Amino acid sequence: MPIKWSEKLRTGIQSIDDEHWKIIEISQKIQCRPGIENDVDVRHLIDEFNTAYRSHLINEEFIMRELNYPEFGAHADEHEALLCILNKIPQMSGSSHEECQKLCFLILQWITSHIEGAEMKFADFVWGRSG
Ligand SMILES: [Fe+2]
Repeated sequence: MPIKWSEKLRTGIQSIDDEHWKIIEISQKIQCRPGIENDVDVRHLIDEFNTAYRSHLINEEFIMRELNYPEFGAHADEHEALLCILNKIPQMSGSSHEECQKLCFLILQWITSHIEGAEMKFADFVWGRSG
């Protein structure tokens, strides 16, 4: 089942929410396509996803540094782990659409769990909800 944007993923930090929404929207387009081998459009979407996510990490980490977020190191480590998965994308040329979808789904599961966990912790810090 495709991963969808939902209110429980909202951090309340507008630029971060907008980027999360865009990332999930791109991935939904990939996940909803039928299995077609060598699908140029899917590869284009995966490139778009890769670019959007990397740009998002730069923005998010900038905000965290600006706010002296005390858990920045641990959060950045999670980003680094995802970048290891994203770095596999260029090696996927020639892979089937199904393989691309699997990778995309893995990334999306990771992102959803990251948003629900680490991002919400950051949102709690921003909005003064952390103890
Ligand atoms: Fe993050």
